[in-house]
Amino acid sequence: MEKLVNPHVLEVSPYRPGKPVEDIQREFGLARVVKLASNENMLPVPENVRRAIGDEISQLQYYPDSDNYFLRRRIAEYNGVGLENVIVGAGSVEIIQMLIRTFLKPGEKVLTSEKTFSLYRSATIEFAGTAAFVEAPMDRGLCFDLEAIAGRIDDAAKIIFITNPNNPTGTILPGAAVRAFIERVPPERILVLDNAYQEYVDDPGDYVNGLDEIKNRKNVIVLRTFSKVYGLAGLRVGYALAHRETIAILNRVKPPFNVTRIGQRAAIASLESDEFKERSVGLNRRNKAKLLSRLQAMGLRVIPSQTNFLLFFPEVDVEGLNLSLLKRGVIIRPMAGFGIPDAMRVSVGLEEENDFFITMLGEALAEMKR
Ligand SMILES: Cc1ncc(COP(=O)(O)O)c(C=O)c1O
Repeated sequence: MEKLVNPHVLEVSPYRPGKPVEDIQREFGLARVVKLASNENMLPVPENVRRAIGDEISQLQYYPDSDNYFLRRRIAEYNGVGLENVIVGAGSVEIIQMLIRTFLKPGEKVLTSEKTFSLYRSATIEFAGTAAFVEAPMDRGLCFDLEAIAGRIDDAAKIIFITNPNNPTGTILPGAAVRAFIERVPPERILVLDNAYQEYVDDPGDYVNGLDEIKNRKNVIVLRTFSKVYGLAGLRVGYALAHRETIAILNRVKPPFNVTRIGQRAAIASLESDEFKERSVGLNRRNKAKLLSRLQAMGLRVIPSQTNFLLFFPEVDVEGLNLSLLKRGVIIRPMAGFGIPDAMRVSVGLEEENDFFITMLGEALAEMKR
C-alpha cells in the first residue's frame, strides 16, 4: 500500500488529539471523566447561538453559502476591516493548510519556533516533505525568540508562523518586539500571525493584533478562530484577515462550501454580543490563577500563561502519569508531539473540573513517587 502513497504523506506523524470522553469511559469503565485536553471553552454557548443553530436545522438539505457572505460581513464589521479582507475556513487549521498550498513553492521552507502548534509542521510536511520545515529555538522562558527566527530568514524561508500567545507554552511576546520583527520581515515572505488565543491576553494595549499591519502589508496574514473563547470548537469555524489581494489569492484554493450552514449561523450569532466572551475571559482568569497556584503548591514548575491553558512539568514519567490520570478519569495532554516530552498541558476548566483534576493529579503523583 505504501508504494501508492505520496512520499511526503509517509513522513507525517498523525496528529494525536486529546482522547474523547466516551472512549475513556468505555475503556476504563468510568462514570465521571473530565476532559481538559484541547483548550476549549468549558461553558456551553449562549442562548442566542443555540437559537440560531435551531433555526438553521430546517435548511440542512441545502448547501451552505460557499462565499460565507453574511459571516464575512459580520467579521469585517466586528474587526473594522472590509469584506474583501476576510476569508473563512473550517477551523483556522484549514486556513493554515490553504496558506501552505498557496504560497510554498518547491525548494521553499516554512519557518517557525520549536515547541509550538504542531499543525504547522504536519501541514508543511504532507505538502513539501520534512526538509521544508525549519524551527528556531525558543528563549529560556519558553517564549518565541524573534531574534532567532529573524536570524533564520534566508532565501528559502518563505512562510513564517508566529503564534502569539503561543500554544502550548501560553507565553506572549511584547508588542514592541512584534512590531520590530514585522519591520524586519522582507515583503516577499509571508508572515502569519496566529492569534487563536488573542481574547485571553492580559494587556490588550500591548498586543499586536495585526489589524494595522494588514492595511499596508500584503504579506501579513492574521488567523483567528471561533473554537476557543467563542466556544464553537465542535462546529469548526476560523478566519483569516489580510490585504484584499492576498485574500483573493487564497480564495483560489478555498474548498467550496467549506463551512457548514450551522457553523456560519452560529459564528454570526456569537459576534452579536461580547457578553459571553467577556464572561468566559473573566472566568478563565480567575480559574487559571487558582489552578496555577495549586500546581505550584504541589511543587511543580508551571509556565505563566496568557491563554486558557497551563503548561507544567510533572518531573515523573509523563506517559506513565498520563495513563494513571486516564484511569482516574482525567484527560489532559502529554506534550511529546509538541516537542516538550517532559511537560503536560492542562486546559483551564470550570471550578469543579479543575478541582477533580488537582485531586486526581495529587493521587497519581503520590502513587508514582511511592
Ligand atoms: C495556535 C493555534 N492555532 C490554530 C488552532 C486551530 O484552531 P481551529 O482549527 O479550531 O480554528 C489551534 C487549536 O488548538 C491553536 O492552538
